[in-house]
Amino acid sequence: MQNLKILRDFGRLEIFREASQYLDQEFLIKAILEDHDHFRNYPPAATFERSFWKWVIDTVETRGEEVDERIYHRYITLLAKPRVPEAQMAPSSSYTTYFIEPPLESKSLLENLIRSPFAREWPGVLSITMLESRKTLEQGTTGLRTWQPGLIFADWLLRNPSIAKGRVLELGCGAGLTAIITALIQKALSDQGETDLSLCLTDFNENVINACKRNVNLQVNQLSERSEICWRMLDWNDALPGAADRESLLTILREFNPTVVFGTDLVYDTTIIPALAYTLSILAFELPNSPDIILAVTLRRMATIETFFEELGKLGLSASMHDLLSLEDTVFAKRNDVDKTAIVKLVRVFRTER
Ligand SMILES: C[S@@+](CC[C@H](N)C(=O)[O-])C[C@H]1O[C@@H](n2cnc3c(N)ncnc32)[C@H](O)[C@@H]1O
Repeated sequence: MQNLKILRDFGRLEIFREASQYLDQEFLIKAILEDHDHFRNYPPAATFERSFWKWVIDTVETRGEEVDERIYHRYITLLAKPRVPEAQMAPSSSYTTYFIEPPLESKSLLENLIRSPFAREWPGVLSITMLESRKTLEQGTTGLRTWQPGLIFADWLLRNPSIAKGRVLELGCGAGLTAIITALIQKALSDQGETDLSLCLTDFNENVINACKRNVNLQVNQLSERSEICWRMLDWNDALPGAADRESLLTILREFNPTVVFGTDLVYDTTIIPALAYTLSILAFELPNSPDIILAVTLRRMATIETFFEELGKLGLSASMHDLLSLEDTVFAKRNDVDKTAIVKLVRVFRTER
């Protein structure tokens, strides 16, 4: 069981030192190179994989044991691949597989859905696979990779699965981690007989929408047959007074008529905050039901969050802030390639008069 945990580090930038104790060459060869085709179908970036095998070789040699030939062979094959300087690389997306032990609150709900490629060896562990950018900015957007608030919010959802009941709208959906977790919870709830469950994923960037769609529909995530999921191009700027496309934004929101709205890491740029606040005010005041609006916000600069709250206040909205777990304490603790230091808060937005 312990040695399976090493798979969490496969394809990540850093390896957890404590993993050295339970490194088992035979297991890694079977799980990664021979018996399973998961990592052949959804490979991590070659540079990440190279550093993983380098760590395996160093660890085995330090123990004074012989390194298996198959591991050397894989490492040498990776070394032979041309190393292109990062700056000259074409879009450098690669697959990330998240292995998740669902917390108690969603364990029994998700039990029948847990179909990780390693379910036989690692029962009870859910896996989610996504093609993600390894850069902060790619094709001019920040939306092609998962950010710290996305990971922390996904963990919070797994601890509060009933929040995903109803018609869930996501703003700025990015690469799709919240979407996949929400869809999994909804699939499980639907199997239990819950009705009126749907998910509408929105973003203003076509590449982001396509990336999210591709990730949700990856065969390995087993959500591709779900007709309850839709994708819509939605630009918060269209919510601004006098915007030419305000009517079409209203139509999208009214047609879907959400009961819950999610958004993670949307409050980072003061220039788009007014448009975001106007979008939230339409959701709160201009739809048949006023949905629950739940955001995960990173406290990078206090001025940014204050601007957001001020803009909400001008539109008759208030917000409450709640603590969330720090990344280390979430089910994604082993993620090493995001900034783990910033504080992420849950922000609920509601009409002031409530
Ligand atoms: C920092 S990313 C966060 C992505 C994802 N929610 C996450 O937490 O990983 C911000 C997202 O907001 C989207 N976004 C930015 N401005 C927007 C606008 N005016 N209308 C709609 N979406 C926007 C971006 O395309 C991107 O997907």
